[in-house]
Amino acid sequence: MLFSCKKEWNEIAISSPDSRLQLIFDLNLGKPTYKLNLNGKPIVLESQMGFRLQGLPALDSNFILLDRKVRSVNESWEQIWGEEKIIDNHYNEVILYLKESTGSERSLNITFRLYNGGLGIRYEFPEQENLNEFQIAEELTNYTLANEANVWWIPAYQPERYEYLYKKSKLSEIDTAHTPLTVETKDGLFLSFHEASLYDFPSYTLYASDTNILTLDLVPWSNGIKAYVKTPFVTPWRTIQVAEEPQELITNYLILNLNDTCRIADTSWIEPTKYVGIWWGMHIDKYTWASGKKHGATTERTKKYIDFAAKYGFGGVLIEGWNIGWDGDWIKNGELFSFTEPYPDFDIEYLAKYAKEKGISLVGHHETSGQIDNYEKQMDEAYKMYENLGVRYLKTGYVGAGYPGGRLFNGEWHHGQYGVRHFQRSVELAARHHIMLIIHEPVKDCGLRRTWPNLMSREGARGMEYNAWSPDGGNPPDYIPTLIFTRLLAGPMDYTPGIFDLEIPAKPGNRVNTTLAKQLAYYVIIYSPLQMAADLPENYEGNPAFQFIRDVPCDWEKTVALNGKIGNYVTIARKDRNSDNWYLGSITDEEARSLKLRADFLEARTKYLMNTYADGEDADWISNPLSLKITQDTIVRADTIYLNLAPGGGTAIQFVPIPKE
Ligand code: NOJ
Repeated sequence: MLFSCKKEWNEIAISSPDSRLQLIFDLNLGKPTYKLNLNGKPIVLESQMGFRLQGLPALDSNFILLDRKVRSVNESWEQIWGEEKIIDNHYNEVILYLKESTGSERSLNITFRLYNGGLGIRYEFPEQENLNEFQIAEELTNYTLANEANVWWIPAYQPERYEYLYKKSKLSEIDTAHTPLTVETKDGLFLSFHEASLYDFPSYTLYASDTNILTLDLVPWSNGIKAYVKTPFVTPWRTIQVAEEPQELITNYLILNLNDTCRIADTSWIEPTKYVGIWWGMHIDKYTWASGKKHGATTERTKKYIDFAAKYGFGGVLIEGWNIGWDGDWIKNGELFSFTEPYPDFDIEYLAKYAKEKGISLVGHHETSGQIDNYEKQMDEAYKMYENLGVRYLKTGYVGAGYPGGRLFNGEWHHGQYGVRHFQRSVELAARHHIMLIIHEPVKDCGLRRTWPNLMSREGARGMEYNAWSPDGGNPPDYIPTLIFTRLLAGPMDYTPGIFDLEIPAKPGNRVNTTLAKQLAYYVIIYSPLQMAADLPENYEGNPAFQFIRDVPCDWEKTVALNGKIGNYVTIARKDRNSDNWYLGSITDEEARSLKLRADFLEARTKYLMNTYADGEDADWISNPLSLKITQDTIVRADTIYLNLAPGGGTAIQFVPIPKE
């Protein structure tokens, strides 16, 4: 049953294409509400919808249903780069046309789109006489779960933005939290609450308004208004992804499907790549961003990094600290940054040309320190300059310490409507100048990469850098096994893996909390089309483990999530887009684990050479992190793969088809 309608059209139900999920909309005495069931069992009980408006009656009740449109779509589309080349887009949808029955008779349309893997809900404010320009004071949408549940969450409105360790708590114990928010229900289901297609609207956070109710909280402007809206307008989709096993969430592409098709006509210049850079050296205090004796981004050093990148097949070299403005307290003095003037010891013209001759590009860098006004004044010129120099990649940064809660310097939030607008301006300007972006301290990822594929990667979580300087001891072993089921569900992350010098002798008291094999496994586990080899080049040269980083691609044909338990372990296999090679990554928390897997993701009738980079028998993330065993074997699809992960460890495998005789 795709669609049914009861009670004089007030109750409307649609099913997912496989009939397992059912969405029931009801106009309960004029109030729009919805429920979501899986195989007849409730996931979301009757939940609220609508808005409170500033100075106007709320848009949440008194509605009648004028009309509805139902449709089914079953198609597929191709990602120009991604973790999966072909994405199936198969859903049933109903659009409900509501109108107030009294008063100013305003209209509000609601769309429900139901996939096998979850639900999208979108509001539309159509163009109308009695609702033109208005301000949203509150969105009333909530998710009423059938029971109290466990939640993996990070707090919102805090100084470090999205950069917190995830906590697992009872739903009633959470503070206001960012999305994606992952929930384990009493019935053993895994849900991810998030949003898709975020344009010109604040992002939302969630708080527990009861022991089983998550209510939306739109990130406000500094004056308290949530959003300025002009009709016609559609909100982002509110999304609920549903899985019976946690690893199913990893390959659920609902968020991408709910974004619009690509808006860039010619995408031939957009290219995933691996990059190295003048970066880790600053985080471990070997170099400085600022000018002086320890200045990292000098002409001479950049040239060496370009030579290294060219020798080992990397496509980019990141050059942090190339521009004027880093001297003094750069976090507080972001208004001093120039985005067009290099330091005198950095010859940008020469280096951009030198890189180009070697077939690579500089990865430019704009740290704004959250001083958006200073940045917006210079963006046009700065992007133009990079384009003219042939700098194809740009990493931007919005470290903000201007106001309490880590806001931008003008008092606005990164993830309010103001921030969303700024980031979009940057993405579109970059597209005009043929620049691919990595954004640090970004707005959360809501799948915009489908529409703007030059927005390739973001940070938006604690990256590798926390291991170099965080007073709390860095990212613990269970961090990435948690992140894969939370933040990473939103999209690519510039985590910057690949640290080999795990004990950081230059920074006593700090270390990377993994084994070496786990660092390699990150290249398969953490998806990013721009993937960094973050350590100093001198730590790679001569180390046999480096071969895996050289080999592993960052653009995939297929992704298979093989197993996983949130916060404990996960195993993912991916097929290269440009060869028949497969790769596998498996990681664990602080517990050693033996995992047995079927190799049935491999092609039939093909024998593969299997290059395994595993934890040595005596490996341990604390006492012996560098112990690594590299072995070669052959394997076919019918075989079983046995993995032995050390405490805090992992395994990385490359499968290369052996040509038939
Ligand atoms: C924070 C970013 O995450 C990091 O990658 C960068 O090096 C610093 N800001 C400076 O821009």
